[in-house]
Amino acid sequence: MDIQDVTFDEATETYQRARLDAIRAWGAERQLPGPVQIEIGSNQGRFLKGLARLYTDRSVLGIEIRRRFVEVLSEELTDEGLTNAQALAADANLALPLLFADNTVERIYILFPDPWWKKRHAKRRLFTPEFLGLLANKLRPDGLLVIKTDVEPYAEIVSELIDQSQRWRRVMPDDPAWPEDEDQWPKTTREGKILRKGLPVWKIYAEPTGELQEVDGLEVPMERFAKPEVTIDRSRGRRPRLRK
Ligand SMILES: C[S@@+](CC[C@H](N)C(=O)[O-])C[C@H]1O[C@@H](n2cnc3c(N)ncnc32)[C@H](O)[C@@H]1O
Repeated sequence: MDIQDVTFDEATETYQRARLDAIRAWGAERQLPGPVQIEIGSNQGRFLKGLARLYTDRSVLGIEIRRRFVEVLSEELTDEGLTNAQALAADANLALPLLFADNTVERIYILFPDPWWKKRHAKRRLFTPEFLGLLANKLRPDGLLVIKTDVEPYAEIVSELIDQSQRWRRVMPDDPAWPEDEDQWPKTTREGKILRKGLPVWKIYAEPTGELQEVDGLEVPMERFAKPEVTIDRSRGRRPRLRK
């Protein structure tokens, strides 16, 4: 085989460009009418489907980095006639700036994100000041960021990041901005498991204060590329089963 001379930087730039082009191509073919709500990390789509049924007058979009989940979910959305729901296979760090103008998204849900416990894996965590800045830019002034986790230290880290930022105001249960239909929201797969075990869920809700900010240096860490792929066995009924 005649091995070509390609530097690591050239190869990753090509790879990143292809990812951006794929998101642009997806966006060019799609419409998201009405107010838009986004779930980041929609996984197998249990929450997204429930949300589509609850808010039939909204467009709901799941952004999920693992392509196979999105392929299965997209088929299920079509089969179940959930025409107001769509799923995109992408890293939210790339998709949000490309697909949404500032001040346009009604709600962003990030539910039970991977905590990446180990210190050496902290770079992989979704929540960084830059990522929160991006979310604050995209939400409408009356928009809401909804975060849930069952990992108390992670809830503390995210709460601190939000409280330290001038761009967010925490929404508490006695606040007028607290969503009144919160109890009707569907549960994610993980939330279902946590609640069945009687374990606590930490909820963090926040609204943008309205100041827009230049967000640069959004890094998509290389470690993400190494995330293990999973195969989905659909032979045992409709719910996909995961094998590492
Ligand atoms: C721990 S799972 C939680 C799944 C689901 N929300 C639940 O509660 O059952 C986190 C999900 O976020 C996805 N994810 C992680 N980083 C992401 C990113 N940057 N953009 C989009 N999805 C991401 C993962 O692939 C995974 O499906």
